[in-house]
Amino acid sequence: MPSTEANIDELFEDGIANAGAIYKRGNEVVRPLQVHSSSVHQLLKHLQQAGFTAAPAPIAIDETTERISFMPGVVPAPPYSPWCLEDQTLYEIARLHRSYHDAVTSFQPEENCKWNTGLADPAGVGIVCHNDLGPGNIVFNDGLPTGFIDWDFAAPGRALWDAARTARAWIPLDDPQNASTYGFGGLDPIKRFQVFCDGYGMNRQQRRELLDLLNECNAVSVAYVASQVKQGKPAFVKMWKDYKLDALYKVRTKWIEDNHDVFVKALI
Ligand SMILES: Nc1ncnc2c1ncn2[C@@H]1O[C@H](COP(=O)(O)OP(=O)(O)O)[C@@H](O)[C@H]1O
Ligand SMILES: [Mg+2]
Repeated sequence: MPSTEANIDELFEDGIANAGAIYKRGNEVVRPLQVHSSSVHQLLKHLQQAGFTAAPAPIAIDETTERISFMPGVVPAPPYSPWCLEDQTLYEIARLHRSYHDAVTSFQPEENCKWNTGLADPAGVGIVCHNDLGPGNIVFNDGLPTGFIDWDFAAPGRALWDAARTARAWIPLDDPQNASTYGFGGLDPIKRFQVFCDGYGMNRQQRRELLDLLNECNAVSVAYVASQVKQGKPAFVKMWKDYKLDALYKVRTKWIEDNHDVFVKALI
């Protein structure tokens, strides 16, 4: 159904890839149809059946849109409220992330499924990862994460790849100066790395493997964002400019390389 102001209850303008094209109508969220939408709906249906309540329910797909359930709550945006940066919040995100991975383990996608692999694990096998659980894609209630939204980048990969992507966004695993430019300044990355891994329930070997994945994760993000900028996608062009992403990514990569051994030592 074409959207008119009359049948839109709220237009969401805080997204990135689909900025300005997603809206609420009744208890539903309407999003533009993508080639992977029906695969994502298979995944969301599985999660409902598996009793994982922190993902929207799939409602319908038509020629131009997909409809999913609206998840009430707060989606953090900068400047972030203090609760958003608390260790307990990080712990709960990691815990919910683990329960998503537990719920998705039994998902067997049909062979003809199509996924957007823009942020996916290059290894390409494993569970279906969310791949994009940064602050703009988690719904909170009373400071607790209750909804993982925006499943556009869901794709097969290692669970640790998905965990690494979430960890780097929320700890964050980045140069402190960089982190302060996007509202995550003044945090202790080593302590928060432990908090995240504890919340997820990772053993030492998994913590080590996650660290080893970080720069590959960054490289994939940089390549994806750069490709969107090259195609002239306005939200990405703006983000690239506003956050000086070219320089920021270089500093982040160096920081991760320089601090790798510091993190490994902290695991002992
Ligand atoms: N199922 C949902 N429940 C509640 N809010 C949602 C839902 N889906 C999207 N939103 C809102 O719309 C915004 C943009 O949607 P999102 O799916 O993240 O798109 P984008 O790909 O542009 O990031 C979200 O940040 C959130 O505020
Ligand atoms: Mg989003």
